[in-house]
Amino acid sequence: MILNRALILGALALTTMMSPSGSEDIVADHIGIYGVNVYQTYGPSGYFTHEFDGDEEFYVDLEKRETVWRLPEFSKFTSFDPQGALRNIATAKHNLEILIQRSNSTAATNKVPEVTVFSKSPVMLGQPNTLICHVDNIFPPVINITWLRNGHSVTEGVSETSFLIKSDYSFLKINYLTFLASDDDVYDCKVEHWGLDEPVLKHWEPEIPVPMSELTETVVCALGLTVGLVGIVVGTVLIIRGLRSGGPSRHQGPL
Ligand SMILES: *[C@@H]1O[C@H](CO)[C@@H](O)[C@H](O)[C@H]1NC(C)=O
Ligand SMILES: *[C@@H]1O[C@H](CO)[C@@H](O)[C@H](O)[C@H]1NC(C)=O
Repeated sequence: MILNRALILGALALTTMMSPSGSEDIVADHIGIYGVNVYQTYGPSGYFTHEFDGDEEFYVDLEKRETVWRLPEFSKFTSFDPQGALRNIATAKHNLEILIQRSNSTAATNKVPEVTVFSKSPVMLGQPNTLICHVDNIFPPVINITWLRNGHSVTEGVSETSFLIKSDYSFLKINYLTFLASDDDVYDCKVEHWGLDEPVLKHWEPEIPVPMSELTETVVCALGLTVGLVGIVVGTVLIIRGLRSGGPSRHQGPL
């Protein structure tokens, strides 16, 4: 697998977060983005995620030193040596340290993540489906995305992508929740990020067609009847007219 190591160091940031109590604790994060390599001092750790056409192919678990394929089947056709990722992350870390000094630890602003929730397939009661929480414009890549069912945290059936790098050096992350559609259950995708004053809850509930009320049914029935009656009357008038205009012409023949 060929990696473009010539990509220029993309972004550097120092982000700070005051603890909720407003005390002196400051969490600072420096981030160096170098192609598919993201190194950050928060943790301290980084990400090595490889994409193809905007979709995640694999990431390297930097602690376990192993390649994790987004779809396990990929590993049957190809491989990636995690050592390559570790070397790149080490380079990114080195470059970042230089840049932090050069930039005088200049602070960058946290972005406000954009959250959208939708279902993978149209909702059918009792049918298995997947909820998708699409979180865009993430910067820095430190975030908590969780699911709530009827206000309670859900951990089963949950999965997520890595941070996917966008051309503007912000990140995209997608979380999934498999569920059985029921009209008793409502869901929220909860997002915590330093760019948000408080966690964002993006609500989702199944849209099941509402049965027509009795009044609506009566109105529709009356309208239908009226249209039918008007049709009969107009039709009859036209037939009579037709007969009348046809009458004299028949008389003209023998004259
Ligand atoms: C970096 O910070 C030092 C001390 O605060 C200051 O003297 C210096 O001018 C700064 N350099 C730049 C490039 O901003
Ligand atoms: C994510 O959750 C952990 C554990 O609750 C918390 O310590 C951390 O501050 C959260 N991160 C963000 C970005 O809110």
